Amino acid sequence: MIIRSVHLENFRNYGRLDLDVGPSVNIFYGDNAQGKTNLVEGIYVASSIASHRTSKDSDLIKFGENEYKASLDLSDEGALTSLSSCYYTEKSVLSKNNRTGRILTRDNAPVDKISEYIGICNIVIFAPEDLNIVKNAPAFRRKFLNTLISKVSPSYFNLLTNYSKLLSQKNALLKSIRISDSMPALVNEQLNFWDYSLADLSAEIILKRYRFAKLISDTASKHHSSISGGKEKLSIEYSTVFGVVGALETFLNKNGKYDEYMSKGLSGTDYGRIKGILSDLVLAKLKSVRNYDIDKHISSVGIQRDDIVIKLDGLVMKTFSSQGQQRTAALALKLSELEIIKMFVSSTPILILDDVFSELDKARRMSLVSAMKDAQIFITCTDKDMIGEEIDVMQGAGKAAFYRVNGGIIEAET
Ligand SMILES: Nc1ncnc2c1ncn2[C@@H]1O[C@H](COP(=O)(O)OP(=O)(O)O)[C@@H](O)[C@H]1O
Ligand SMILES: [Mg+2]
Repeated sequence: MIIRSVHLENFRNYGRLDLDVGPSVNIFYGDNAQGKTNLVEGIYVASSIASHRTSKDSDLIKFGENEYKASLDLSDEGALTSLSSCYYTEKSVLSKNNRTGRILTRDNAPVDKISEYIGICNIVIFAPEDLNIVKNAPAFRRKFLNTLISKVSPSYFNLLTNYSKLLSQKNALLKSIRISDSMPALVNEQLNFWDYSLADLSAEIILKRYRFAKLISDTASKHHSSISGGKEKLSIEYSTVFGVVGALETFLNKNGKYDEYMSKGLSGTDYGRIKGILSDLVLAKLKSVRNYDIDKHISSVGIQRDDIVIKLDGLVMKTFSSQGQQRTAALALKLSELEIIKMFVSSTPILILDDVFSELDKARRMSLVSAMKDAQIFITCTDKDMIGEEIDVMQGAGKAAFYRVNGGIIEAET
């Protein structure tokens, strides 16, 4: 799959952009604050809906406007298709009943579910924000894990959506009730129902997360050791509701199912059994904190608090690592994302490198580009003369195309 052209309307500092791009390496250069990142963000959003920079869709709308549209014309081995993602605020003429909304289309026909849209064109983006995965709050690591799994497994995205809907309903109830000796039976019954459903969904989500966290650990540590010369060992551990990981590992080991689970996931009765074990554990945990949660008006336990703990030689990186070590780890994690997507999806993902070269030394730059041969690539930088050698390594059959970005206007070099 490659992008043939990009179309943006009222996206960040672009009023309207219609740009044909090359099949190989595309380099966007220009001064700061001209719209280089905005452009690649637009490309990413058109394929993946969520931005790599913000979780607020309204940030993406050009100041003063009420809707944006980001579209891509694609070619999949010659077969043409187009994707378009539009988001509007309550003030937009597109809005119904004063609500915000999203319109996704493929070849101008509506796509109802996000899960059916995000796997169509896979893009992996490398950006300075990747550092957040290593050094920032668990939410950044969950986003990394969720994005990766959703790209290879649309059903996972649906599980997450269902889980967060139920959780916000439960949280709304928790906010409205006060603990007392005479808590209405109805409230308890409602909480029982939600906890049961949440535990059921949790078990399925956990089964995906544990497996992908392991895959990330294996592939990222390999990339890490080749970037850093094998001096330090990177590892990733999935952290979830207490006792769950132990129960899952025991089940896999006792039944000799580890390899099957890692390679294709469990199915049939094995899946049913382990799902039952995990959901029972989560349910018991939810019940044990119920009074506390009612008292505090929160959901204190659950997979919404999961994390992947990134360690270097056994030390938690978030707390004990230098900037340089964090950069290397972030790069290894993103290379692992690329490798895992390639494992599960037949076509090579499209790559975006937003301003990443300037932050990396020569050795890291080279390990990055050597993983990127033959892909369609979008690169942003301030100085195009600084990346000649990297472009040579990345270039497959095609020729690099250069574009100058200046105040929301893009000119192709001829
Ligand atoms: N929603 C928006 N509407 C209009 N302009 C925006 C919006 N968001 C960011 N900008 C502008 O875009 C510029 C930054 O563009 P960016 O692509 O991040 O720069 P760079 O070329 O350095 O990557 C800033 O001038 C900022 O004010
Ligand atoms: Mg930028």
